[in-house]
Amino acid sequence: MKIGVCGTGRMGSAIAQRLMGVGHEVSVWNRDAAKTKPLIAAGAKAAPTPAVLVESCEAIVVMLLNDAASEAVYRGPDGLLKGKLAGKLVIDMSTVRPDTMQTIGASVTQQGAAFVESPVGGSTAPAKEGKLFALVGGEKVDVARAMPLLEQMCRRIEHVGALGAGSAVKLAINLPLLVYWQALGESLTICKPLNLPADRLIDIMSDTAGAPAAMKGRGAAIAKVLAGEPLGPTAFGLNAAKKDLATAVQYARSLDAELPVAASALACFEEAEAAGLGDADATAVSSRWPQRQAKAKS
Ligand SMILES: NC(=O)c1ccc[n+]([C@@H]2O[C@H](COP(=O)([O-])OP(=O)(O)OC[C@H]3O[C@@H](n4cnc5c(N)ncnc54)[C@H](OP(=O)(O)O)[C@@H]3O)[C@@H](O)[C@H]2O)c1
Repeated sequence: MKIGVCGTGRMGSAIAQRLMGVGHEVSVWNRDAAKTKPLIAAGAKAAPTPAVLVESCEAIVVMLLNDAASEAVYRGPDGLLKGKLAGKLVIDMSTVRPDTMQTIGASVTQQGAAFVESPVGGSTAPAKEGKLFALVGGEKVDVARAMPLLEQMCRRIEHVGALGAGSAVKLAINLPLLVYWQALGESLTICKPLNLPADRLIDIMSDTAGAPAAMKGRGAAIAKVLAGEPLGPTAFGLNAAKKDLATAVQYARSLDAELPVAASALACFEEAEAAGLGDADATAVSSRWPQRQAKAKS
């Protein structure tokens, strides 16, 4: 199948690799064209604009950072909505506000295309292996049409309701994990005077009922930073994590709900971003907190 991947950041690139790996003819567009180069070297075709990407493909997978990126890439002068969308399938995997998926979805379907939102759980490694967890929103008929492609990208697919529902559940699944990364930093802070080796401490913290599954993949990297090594590669950016918490808090407000713990965690992520850690992995909040406390004391 001819598939366009719109947005080849960390996740979009990993998804494009997966789609090429299972035999699709993949075209790519990214705002910063340099990020498409490894994919083009691996056999993908380059599209000069999102509108041209639409022309050359039967299905388009969109993977963008946030609401502002979605607005720009769909509604911009050469945006996706300027392409000949009639008859095409758009699967948007970005994590954005539920109402963004609803309004963009309405604009896409007005042009005769099918639109499915499918934000995902799982990071770049599962994306490369086709093992993401899809939280899907949309019309049954459109989701059925998207299913063969979703099955090639995901280990689990949950159709949770109409457009917007997938985004709401995605924000919900990230909330406790992101709160955990800050909470872990706080746990490590109270253990700091014990001077236990970082890898031993992280091993203890990982082997408890309170640890998320993500500690299996991220724990060792956190221990290294605690032990004084530089920050490792970013899987899920701190700036994107902050965006997810901010979006969840904002979405809750629209439901007249308060999220006091998420709001506090958000303030810590904002502080870490302001300290220059926006491009670091989200887990940098865990290693930063004990160091920040130590600095505050000295
Ligand atoms: N990384 C993960 O582990 C993970 C897991 C699940 C879900 N997600 C979600 O997946 C989405 C993408 O995450 P990522 O990790 O791939 O982030 P990323 O590496 O920062 O990539 C972000 C993408 O959005 C584009 N973008 C940002 N602002 C833009 C704008 N104003 N106009 C046009 N394009 C813009 C970037 O283009 P440029 O390259 O030109 O900046 C890039 O293609 C986010 O919604 C994130 O929350 C991430």
